[in-house]
Amino acid sequence: MLPPIVTTIADVRAAVDAARAAQKPIAFVPTMGALHEGHAALVRAARGFVVVSIFVNPTQFGPKEDFAKYPRTIEADQKLCGEAGASLIFAPGVEEMYPTNSVTFVDVAKLGDHLCGAARPGHFRGVCTVVLKLFNIVRPDVAHFGAKDYQQARIIAQMVRDLNVPVEVRVEPTIREADGLALSSRNRYLSADERAVAPRIYQMLQATRVRAAAGEIDAARLESALAADLATIPGARVDYARVVDAETLQPLARLDRPAVAAVAVFLGTTRLIDNLVLA
Ligand code: PAF
Repeated sequence: MLPPIVTTIADVRAAVDAARAAQKPIAFVPTMGALHEGHAALVRAARGFVVVSIFVNPTQFGPKEDFAKYPRTIEADQKLCGEAGASLIFAPGVEEMYPTNSVTFVDVAKLGDHLCGAARPGHFRGVCTVVLKLFNIVRPDVAHFGAKDYQQARIIAQMVRDLNVPVEVRVEPTIREADGLALSSRNRYLSADERAVAPRIYQMLQATRVRAAAGEIDAARLESALAADLATIPGARVDYARVVDAETLQPLARLDRPAVAAVAVFLGTTRLIDNLVLA
């Protein structure tokens, strides 16, 4: 069944209030649309009255990024949401989410200093602001995020803890193509040649895990080997290849605590991210 689409804050709140009055837990899957199996897995993991938001959030895109050309596929998204078991889609316009006099933003310090935070200044400020607004609008019991956006999930969990937001953040495993490529709305931009080499990103993260398991504990050496591997992919430009503390996302000297290897790689003009927890 196709879930209804509402576009106003008043309508989504009324639907959520009715579901809560019927004793249903409220689950929430925030997205920017262009949905794929990774999003479907988040919806399937959700229980109760499942709200999916579809909002391409302008405040998380830099001036030279792909906001205008970000894919908008609402009909296909509604179908996928229906098949995955969503109850309602909240698809507001920019004016509904950001009235012209809105001047408040949410900044989570430190966790955004490296990785995508360094490569995309202002990105996580936009993400946190919109996610907190969505939490305040939907007021879910549980919210589901994907592990592919490792830094995003960590920052949101920290925001929820620091600001006492009454929501449980659950992070679901990355969904991959059979050849290992992490699902992403941006994969559709890849040319056939780029798509053919894209799975090597994950293979190289796995090689990093093998090196760490074999006893390499020097993070800088792991990072340079990973960056060197990635640079061998035809047409690739490495944005970053880092091995950082899995909790604080700060640089590490040695792998003496849980760590994550995280990368961003341009294939042509498409920027892909992926990560692997090392221990
Ligand atoms: O991961 C995304 O799709 C977005 O960053 C999110 C969490 C929906 C906020 O716009």
